[in-house]
Amino acid sequence: MTTIARPEIISQIGNTPLVELDSFAAGRVKFFAKLEWHNPFGSVKDRAAYWMVKEAEKKGMLKRDKSIIIEPTSGNTGIALAGISKALGYKVEIVIPDKVSDETKKILRRLGAAVHETSDDLCPRVGAGTDQSIALAKAISKPRPDIYYMPNQYENDANFLAHYESTGPEIWKQTDGELTHFLTGCGTGGTITGIGTFLKEKNEKIKIVAIQAQKNHLLQGMRNFEESAMPELFLRRQKVVDEWLTATNEDSFRLVKELAVKERLLVGPSSGSVMASMVKVAENLERGNLVGIFADDGTKFKSLYDQQGVFTDTEYYDALKNAKNLSEPAYAFV
Ligand SMILES: Cc1ncc(COP(=O)(O)O)c(C=O)c1O
Repeated sequence: MTTIARPEIISQIGNTPLVELDSFAAGRVKFFAKLEWHNPFGSVKDRAAYWMVKEAEKKGMLKRDKSIIIEPTSGNTGIALAGISKALGYKVEIVIPDKVSDETKKILRRLGAAVHETSDDLCPRVGAGTDQSIALAKAISKPRPDIYYMPNQYENDANFLAHYESTGPEIWKQTDGELTHFLTGCGTGGTITGIGTFLKEKNEKIKIVAIQAQKNHLLQGMRNFEESAMPELFLRRQKVVDEWLTATNEDSFRLVKELAVKERLLVGPSSGSVMASMVKVAENLERGNLVGIFADDGTKFKSLYDQQGVFTDTEYYDALKNAKNLSEPAYAFV
């Protein structure tokens, strides 16, 4: 039996560390990052995936060794669903855009997922237009409801609840309620609406800042809301957002590099977007405690960072060797 095929691994989802980014501090403005790659399958999406599976189990929609979970995703939800399903005894099929990094596809296959690739944008579109990933997942699953279950993170409230019930309360506790701003990149909107709603209930003065990707972006996990409609899940609670920022590829990659050099953190592209946005928000502040979600680490993105000239080979391996706070994801043991 592999290390991963144990239901206990599920109990390691959540309770990720919050670290202060000292090198970015400016006077009375402090920066904190929630390191979501400490989840067992390596990203913030472990939470949404687990909450959706838990909800389906509660409703009696899943049968061990029989059910197939199928989901369109830009990567991390797929990895999380594949890992969780392996631990709990379900089969998985993942529909992803072919532009997703090779490392991501390799991890999915290693976890035993059947992978269907489409020529969608990096983040599967919802609504009208090219929504091949979502359409394909629906086409495969609809005729066989006895076998297939599609969680549909773009509409499923369990995605919101995961963050309302776990990530939000963790951040509140880890900051002793002293945060002034919360920032995250957005895909389905589960992270921002779940954490944002919880934090606003605790203190309505906390500013909730949503980050979208530029058009035609390379920021896996994020979305541009002009290119692609806002998912139903996000529409339900979008009012929780106080401010919108758009992250460029260039700024995001620059901050990926800066975080490696100044903080010894090897982060994924969207964490670069969050850091760039935190710095931008801080320019207008005299004091504040800014908290950002660092959704995944940089280990799935060597090929992208190579292609974009973010790191030379030597710089990347040095960053990997020197990285503090990397955590070995469970798929490393499969
Ligand atoms: C890699 C990655 N996955 C997921 C998310 C969050 O997405 P969602 O809005 O679907 O909760 C982000 C947001 O930054 C991300 O960068």
